Amino acid sequence: MDTTKIKEKFNSLYGEDGVLYTSPGRINLIGEHTDYNGGFVLPGAVDKAMYCEIKPNGRDKVRAFALDLNEPTEFSLHEEDKPKEGWAKYIFGVCREMNKKGREISGFDIVISGDVPLGAGMSSSAALECAVGFALNDLFSLGFTRRELALIGQATEHNYVGVKCGIMDQFISCLGKKGSLIRLDCRSLEYEYVPFAPKGYKLVLINTCVEHNLAAGGEYNKRRESCERVVAEIAKKHPEVKLLRDATLDQLKEVKGKTDATDYIRSEFVIEEIQRLLDTCEALQKNDYETVGKKMYETHEGLSKKYSVSCPELDFLNEQAKKYGVTGSRVMGGGFGGCTINLVKEDKMDEFVKEASEAYEKEFHIKPKAYDVVIGDGARKL
Ligand code: GLA
Repeated sequence: MDTTKIKEKFNSLYGEDGVLYTSPGRINLIGEHTDYNGGFVLPGAVDKAMYCEIKPNGRDKVRAFALDLNEPTEFSLHEEDKPKEGWAKYIFGVCREMNKKGREISGFDIVISGDVPLGAGMSSSAALECAVGFALNDLFSLGFTRRELALIGQATEHNYVGVKCGIMDQFISCLGKKGSLIRLDCRSLEYEYVPFAPKGYKLVLINTCVEHNLAAGGEYNKRRESCERVVAEIAKKHPEVKLLRDATLDQLKEVKGKTDATDYIRSEFVIEEIQRLLDTCEALQKNDYETVGKKMYETHEGLSKKYSVSCPELDFLNEQAKKYGVTGSRVMGGGFGGCTINLVKEDKMDEFVKEASEAYEKEFHIKPKAYDVVIGDGARKL
């Protein structure tokens, strides 16, 4: 992204130059709604990111400006002085979480902007938290590791945004590496880089342009609560089960009838999805992309029918993918709108994107957007 406008705005608002930082959005190949259940995920950072130019101002206030919304705000760093603008809560939350860990941050000036599409399931919010976290850590020499910065971003979502998210988005935004996915164990936070350059295939996202908002209606948090209730029931007999990651399908079957039917079917999806990710990693090692694609379709089916986080627009794009011989396709991220991720043979890509987009527009009177996936680096100073 061209960052000239950020620099110009910063200078015109605050009369000097700051330092520019960035942190990316993400894709996730497979492993959805598994992170807060202690399972595995397989995300990669993308070349779309949030940017912030920032400089300490020697006062006790933060002066912030959201360039894409053309909106200024000012707040102090005390708990009671929470800003009212939604976007500013991410900045405020990161500062507060750092403060809770015993670090002192004084006032600063900041301009934010970015090209991660909002509400597209590509983690624009995590990208913002991580850009701000990385910047403050560097400018005020706070000594946090990238892993700790990811946890600070996640805590910001929990405590200042109200989404009880897992660790996937912030982790990949902080630790992403060009050309690689990360296979992350969300229980231990152990991870390994998995080089991803499938020969003859491409990843493409299609954005339904139906904006998802995970905080609205609390649907995301309700999914998490369903899983937690089932864990509590299983743990009565199997106290070693602390998360769905620890449970087997047989243990789940034992509580059938004792748990709410919706909770049950959601938990079944999660346990299956954790196994699907492991199977996908095995297929990746063998360069068996047909199996990877098959698993992606299975995930879509599960997210739609069992976990109930799809929507007619996403299901339609999934059907289109099947129609045009796309190798794998599924709803990506939290769901309820946003993008599908598609693994498609290079020679089928153009036809699929064109035909599916036209059919989609005809059906829903919304113009979808397609993005080629380029796996990029995590948070950094520019
Ligand atoms: C959102 C959350 C993540 C994860 C995904 C679903 O992106 O922020 O923690 O739960 O949904 O996989």
